[in-house]
Amino acid sequence: MEMLKESYPVAANDMTCAGDVAAKIKRRIKQLGVPAGVVRRVSVCTYEAEINLVIHSCGGRIDLEITEEHILVHVCDTGPGIRDIDKAMTEGWSTASSAVRAMGFGAGMGLPNMKRNADEFAITSEVGVGTDITMIFHI
Ligand SMILES: Nc1ncnc2c1ncn2[C@@H]1O[C@H](COP(=O)(O)OP(=O)(O)O)[C@@H](O)[C@H]1O
Ligand SMILES: [Mg+2]
Repeated sequence: MEMLKESYPVAANDMTCAGDVAAKIKRRIKQLGVPAGVVRRVSVCTYEAEINLVIHSCGGRIDLEITEEHILVHVCDTGPGIRDIDKAMTEGWSTASSAVRAMGFGAGMGLPNMKRNADEFAITSEVGVGTDITMIFHI
């Protein structure tokens, strides 16, 4: 299989379609014959990444790169960035607003779950610029 590259934009703030991109990605990689366990882990991670783009960022995108050997998920946004990545990676730590929490989000488990479910996980962020996450899943 050749390398497939796809990109999915995610808009900020719009909770009505939060999760749609992750669902689309799940369908897509299932259809490509990616093993169920990998599909499940990619789904968890893209869902958490998408929600973070909606509730914490100014908007961004999720890029997929699919080969026989791996799925690479790249997530980036245009701000506001994360001041303290160690804190952000701590289970239960969240800056989500009370409105977002009232909708059932903001448990502070998204980034730790992404790290746990990906085979490789890297995050960089610059305040005022944006956040960049790369996750690799071996097939
Ligand atoms: N894309 C992002 N842009 C800015 N801040 C983010 C982003 N993703 C995560 N964060 C920060 O990291 C914290 C922890 O994220 P996460 O573990 O997903 O928990 P939650 O989304 O439930 O708050 C968030 O509360 C937020 O402060
Ligand atoms: Mg989150």
